Amino acid sequence: MATFTKTLLFSFIVISTARTFQHRQDAPQNITDPASLVVPFIGTTNGGHVFPGATLPHGMVKVGMDTDSPGNHAGYDGNSTFNATGFSQLHDDGTGGAVPLSNFKIWAFPNCSEFRHCPTSLDSRKVLRKVLSDGSPDDFASPGYFSTNLSNSMRVELTAARRTALHRYTFPQNTAHPRMLVDITNDGQRSGIDIVMTIDPLTGRVMGGASFAASFGPGRYSAFTCVDFRGEGFELGNATEWGAWLGDSPVLGTTNVAQIYINSNTESGGLLTFPPAPEGTQTKILARVGVSLISSEQACANAEEEIPDFDFSTCS
Ligand SMILES: *[C@@H]1O[C@H](CO)[C@@H](O)[C@H](O)[C@H]1NC(C)=O
Ligand SMILES: *[C@@H]1O[C@H](CO)[C@@H](O)[C@H](O)[C@H]1NC(C)=O
Ligand SMILES: *[C@@H]1O[C@H](CO)[C@@H](O)[C@H](O)[C@H]1NC(C)=O
Ligand SMILES: *[C@@H]1O[C@H](CO)[C@@H](O)[C@H](O)[C@H]1NC(C)=O
Ligand SMILES: *[C@@H]1O[C@H](CO)[C@@H](O)[C@H](O)[C@H]1NC(C)=O
Ligand SMILES: *[C@@H]1O[C@H](CO)[C@@H](O)[C@H](O)[C@H]1NC(C)=O
Repeated sequence: MATFTKTLLFSFIVISTARTFQHRQDAPQNITDPASLVVPFIGTTNGGHVFPGATLPHGMVKVGMDTDSPGNHAGYDGNSTFNATGFSQLHDDGTGGAVPLSNFKIWAFPNCSEFRHCPTSLDSRKVLRKVLSDGSPDDFASPGYFSTNLSNSMRVELTAARRTALHRYTFPQNTAHPRMLVDITNDGQRSGIDIVMTIDPLTGRVMGGASFAASFGPGRYSAFTCVDFRGEGFELGNATEWGAWLGDSPVLGTTNVAQIYINSNTESGGLLTFPPAPEGTQTKILARVGVSLISSEQACANAEEEIPDFDFSTCS
């Protein structure tokens, strides 16, 4: 009798529990953090053109690595035989046409011997990534975050707000002259013309923009950027050298690309040298990159509003 009562009671509980939670049984198994299950690298080799970098849902900025692969319509290629060429702010996922967007690449030089000898053009500066024992590149991505280790011992990490990207460049130990490049003209088609760019030597701020070719149809569009640098874990002193560059020729002391402007088809941007972190600590430089389709002033306003404190951990 006692057993019967217990069984009855148990059945009652099971049935009412089942009724109470019936709607849940139809739902997928309890996955609390679905984003953690996303593998961003699916479709990033053999012309898959999938974008694995950092972005927000419906975000304007999609910050990611660009490579010299022919399958780089989203910038990236997961095949380690291809070189990294820069870390740019705008990408498209899975398109055909010509290589779209990939505007405003940022690049770091750990060891160019002299400012005027930095290999600033896209083909001269590119380097391979570190390669892991299984042949894949030393790249990592999770939703909202991307990192890579380059063969020149630079580590690069990326994260994104809506219209602003935040990059973190970790230089090799004992880097004496950490240098940061901003590339204004080399979108995916290297199509930038009507370039404008200024460097503020006091703040290190680089503002600029250009007119770029559309990738899948006629016409052109203008895009603008605003780049600020800050040290992580140390106070980044004022830039010690700066200048606009044209091809492989950085011109020390120039603050406006109009001072070096030669012809509309040449690659161009800005280059700055910063003092390294105090001895014994590793130099980490954050680059905050605002983007706008209106003006570089608007790009600065976007960046200041969205990432006021350069805090990589709260952003990623
Ligand atoms: C999933 O949810 C059920 C109840 O809905 C619970 O019994 C179970 O412990 C949960 N599993 C995990 C792995 O959280
Ligand atoms: C990587 O690209 C090279 C050159 O195109 C090709 O030979 C190789 O098979 C590719 N590797 C993989 C794993 O796809
Ligand atoms: C990578 O760059 C090097 C020069 O730095 C070049 O020799 C090599 O061919 C490039 N790789 C590809 C796949 O273009
Ligand atoms: C890069 O190197 C760092 C150590 O310097 C390591 O923590 C990280 O896992 C490596 N790989 C990537 C993709 O960041
Ligand atoms: C910079 O470092 C790379 C990788 O270690 C090396 O191949 C290159 O020769 C170095 N360049 C200079 C100017 O020291
Ligand atoms: C940076 O430049 C500003 C303006 O010239 C100056 O006031 C400031 O002291 C400089 N900072 C350092 C660390 O040299």
